[in-house]
Amino acid sequence: MNRGKYTIIITGGAGFIGSHLVRRFVRMYPDYRIINLDSLTYAGNLANLTDVASAPNYHFVKGNICDFALVQKVFADFKVDAVIHLAAESHVDRSITDPFTFAQTNVMGTLCLLHAAKEFWNGREEDHLFYHVSTDEVYGSLADSGFFTENTPYDPHSPYSASKASSDHFVRAYRDTYALPVVLSNCSNNYGPFQFPEKLIPLFINNIKHGKPLPVYGNGQNVRDWLYVEDHAQAIDLIFHKGKRGDTYNIGGCNEWKNIDLIRLLIEITDRQLGREAGCSEGLISYVADRAGHDLRYAIDASKLKSALGWKPSCCFEEGVERTVRWYLENEEWLRQVTSGAYQEYYMKMYGDK
Ligand code: NAD
Ligand code: TYD
Repeated sequence: MNRGKYTIIITGGAGFIGSHLVRRFVRMYPDYRIINLDSLTYAGNLANLTDVASAPNYHFVKGNICDFALVQKVFADFKVDAVIHLAAESHVDRSITDPFTFAQTNVMGTLCLLHAAKEFWNGREEDHLFYHVSTDEVYGSLADSGFFTENTPYDPHSPYSASKASSDHFVRAYRDTYALPVVLSNCSNNYGPFQFPEKLIPLFINNIKHGKPLPVYGNGQNVRDWLYVEDHAQAIDLIFHKGKRGDTYNIGGCNEWKNIDLIRLLIEITDRQLGREAGCSEGLISYVADRAGHDLRYAIDASKLKSALGWKPSCCFEEGVERTVRWYLENEEWLRQVTSGAYQEYYMKMYGDK
C-alpha cells in the first residue's frame, strides 16, 4: 500500500505476534489509525501493549471476529482501509483437545472478516488490502531434507494447521471469486517476549526457573525453524507495503533446531542468567508421550521474500534467545498476571463488561 492516512484493523493485536505488530505500526506510522480488534481470550492480554495504549493513533475494540454484525460495524464506524488478520486459536495441543473452537475462530472468524471487507470495499478494491497471517504448518511435515516453498502442496495434520489451511483457502477464494485484494504470508515458529507460556520456549524458561519438569514430547528429535518475533513483524510490515497483491510469501528464520538441542540451550542460558551452576537443570528433562500427529520437521525457504522484497532477519538466534530468557526472568509479574486470572479482574475493573 502507498503510505497515506490509513485506518487498519489489526486482529489479535493483544496476542503475542499481534502486540509486536501493533507496537511497530503505532510507533512507526503516526498517520495510520490502528484499530486492535481482539476478544481477549486467555492468549490476549492488554498488558502486552501498555506502552502504546494511550497513543492518539491507537484504538482498542473488544470483539469477537466471529460476530459478523460487530465486524461490519467496526468497518463502518472506522471506515476501514485495510486488515492485517492475526486473531486465531494458535496452540496445537489445545487444538487436539478442542478442535471445534479452532474451526470456529480460525475458519468462521476469517470468513466473517473477508465478507465484511468485501461488502464494505465493494467497487473500491484498489485502495484496500486484506493481509492474512498464516503458518508454515499448513504445508505439513518434512523429512530430514527439503524446505517449504510457496508452491508446496498443503498437507495439514493437526486441527490447528487444518483450520489455518482452510482459512488460507477462503482468503484465496475471495481473491479469485470477488477480486478481493489480498496478500498472505506463512511463517515459521516465532519466539520472543509476550508469548503465552504454553508454547515451548516460554514454558520451558518458566519451568527451569521454578525447577519444574521439562516435558519433552516423544524423542525430542522434532525440528522447528525459529524466528525472532520482531523480525516477523518487520516482514509483515514489508509485505503489507510492498508485497504483490494476490501473492503469498514464506517467512522463516533459516534457523533449524532439534527440540532437545534447543531445550539444552535454554537450560544453559537460563541457569547462567540465574547465576546457577552450569547444567544444574539438566535433570529436569523428562521425556513424555509424543503429541498426536506430531510433525517431524518444519523448515522454510524464504528466498522469494528475500529476493523480491529484500527482507532479511535482523536478529541472530543466540542473541534473540539470550534476550528472550532475560525478558521472561525479569517479567515475573507479567507471567503471574497472564497465568493467574488476575488479568481478567483487572480488565473488568478497567473496562467493565465491554
Ligand atoms: P496468540 O494465541 O498469542 O494470540 C492470538 C490473539 O487472537 C489473542 O490476542 C486472542 O485474544 C485473539 N483472538 C483469539 N480468538 C479471537 C476471536 N474469536 N476474536 C478476536 N480475537 C481473538 O497467537 P500468536 O502466536 O500471536 O499468532 C498470531 C497469528 O500468527 C495466528 O494467526 C497464528 O496462526 C500465526 N502464526 C503464529 C506463529 C507462532 O509461532 N506463534 C507462527 C506462524 C504464524
Ligand atoms: P510449540 O511451541 O507448541 O509450537 P508448534 O507445535 O506450533 O511447533 O512446540 C514446539 C515444539 O516443541 C513441537 O515439536 C512440540 C514440542 N513441545 C514439547 O516437546 N513439549 C512441550 O511441552 C511443548 C509445549 C512443545
